[in-house]
Amino acid sequence: MGKKDYSIEKSHGLFKRAEASLPGGVNGNIKFRSPFPIFLARAKGAHIWDVDNNEYIDYVLSYGALILGHSHQVVTEALSKVVREYGTILFGNPNKAEIEFGELLLGIYNKRGKIRFTNSGLEATLLAVRLAMAYTGKRRIGKFDGHYHGANPFLLSNYRPINPKSQNGDIEKESDSREVKGDILDNIVVLPFNNIEKTREILDKEDVGAVILEPFEDGYIPAKQEFVEFLRKYTKEHGLILIFDEVKTGFRVRIGGAVEYYSVVPDLICLGKIIGGGSPIGAVVGNQEIMDLLDPRREKNDAVFHSGTFNGNPLSLSLGIATVKELISNNNFSKIEKVSKNLKDGISESLDKFGIPHRIYGEGGIVNYTLSDDEVSTYRDITAQNMQKRKQIDASMLREGVYLVPGSRYSLSLAHTQSDIDTTISSLNIVLREITDNNQLK
Ligand SMILES: Cc1ncc(COP(=O)(O)O)c(C=O)c1O
Repeated sequence: MGKKDYSIEKSHGLFKRAEASLPGGVNGNIKFRSPFPIFLARAKGAHIWDVDNNEYIDYVLSYGALILGHSHQVVTEALSKVVREYGTILFGNPNKAEIEFGELLLGIYNKRGKIRFTNSGLEATLLAVRLAMAYTGKRRIGKFDGHYHGANPFLLSNYRPINPKSQNGDIEKESDSREVKGDILDNIVVLPFNNIEKTREILDKEDVGAVILEPFEDGYIPAKQEFVEFLRKYTKEHGLILIFDEVKTGFRVRIGGAVEYYSVVPDLICLGKIIGGGSPIGAVVGNQEIMDLLDPRREKNDAVFHSGTFNGNPLSLSLGIATVKELISNNNFSKIEKVSKNLKDGISESLDKFGIPHRIYGEGGIVNYTLSDDEVSTYRDITAQNMQKRKQIDASMLREGVYLVPGSRYSLSLAHTQSDIDTTISSLNIVLREITDNNQLK
C-alpha cells in the first residue's frame, strides 16, 4: 500500500536512539505515534520533509500553531528584526512589545480587559484556573468530558475518556495522569458537553468556582449556541467564572475566536499557539477586576503570584505581532477559509464516491470529518469503531504524502494552495480505493 518507495527507516533509527535518552522517544505524550513517530528534518510553507526525505503536505502545522505556514516571510523578517533592533532576544524585564501586543490582542478579544502573557497554553489554563480560585475562593473547577487544556493537573481528567458507562451525560470521572488522584481529582468536576440539563444538575449540586471549556471540542465539535449562552447566564447568576480555552480556536475558527463566533464574552480567555507566530507563548485575557489580582502592588498574599523568566519575551511577541497583523490584513483569513472550504468539499465528494457515510466539520482554518452521518455533539458520539477506521485512513494518508495526526483535525494555513488540496484529495481517493477494495471499511 502507498507510494512504492516510501521508507521511514531513518526515522526508525532515530527513534531507537531517542528511546534511550527521552522517555518513549518523545518530548510530549501526544507526540508519540505507534509504533514510532517519524522525525522531521525541514519545512517550507505548507510542506515538511522527514529525515528519510519524504515530502508531506502538513495539516498538523505544529498542532495548529502555524496559521501562516512554516517560515512565512513576515515571521522570518520579524525574527531578524528582533536581534537587529533590540540586540537580544530576551530582556527578562518590561519592554514595549508587551504593551503593543497586549493592546492588539485586547482590541480583538476584550476591549475593556487586561492581559498577562505566559509561555504556553498549559501555563495560560493554569493561570486562568488559579485566578478563578483566587477570585471565588473555591478550589473546585468544572471541566468538560473530552476537553483538553494542556498538561494542567487541575484539569487532567476525562481528556480521552474510555469508560463506556459514561453515556447520555452520566460521566464516570477518569484521571488522565498517574499523579492526578485524591484531592487533586476530587476538585475536578466533570461535566457533559452540550448537555444543558445534566450540566445544570451537576453545577447545582457541586460547589465549583469556575467552568472551563473548549468552545469547539477538539477544535471542531462546536458547542451549541444555546449551550454557550446557558453557561454564560448560569455562571453570571451564580457568581462562577466562565473560562473559554481558546488555545486551539483563537485566530482559527474566526479572527476573534469563539468569542466572535458565539458573540459571548467569558470572564477569562486562554490564548496560545497562533499568537506566538511559531514560538512558545500563551496568554490570559480577562476582566480587569479578576486580572488585577495579579497586580504586584497588592498586599502580599492578596495578590495572585505569577511570574516567569521568559514571560513577555521580545522574540515570541515580535513573531506573534507579525503573525496576527498579517492574518488580519489583505483578507488573509478569508483566503484560509476558502481553501478550508475547498478541502471540505473535496473530502465530502471523495467519501460520497466510495459510498461512505460521513459528516464534515470545522470552522475557519479547521477541517474534520466523521465516518457516520449521525450528528456528533460530543466526543462520546464518535464510536470506537468509526475512530479506528478513521485512524486507519489517516495512517495510510501519511504514506501518500499527507501529514496528519491519525483521527484528528486538519489545520490549514495561508500557505496551503489549491494544488495542495487537489493532491490531498487524490491521496484520499487512493487510500479509500485500497481500503474499500480490501473491504476494510465495511
Ligand atoms: C485547548 C488547548 N488548551 C491548552 C493547550 C496546551 O497548550 P500548550 O501545548 O501550548 O501547553 C492545548 C494544546 O494543544 C489546547 O489545544
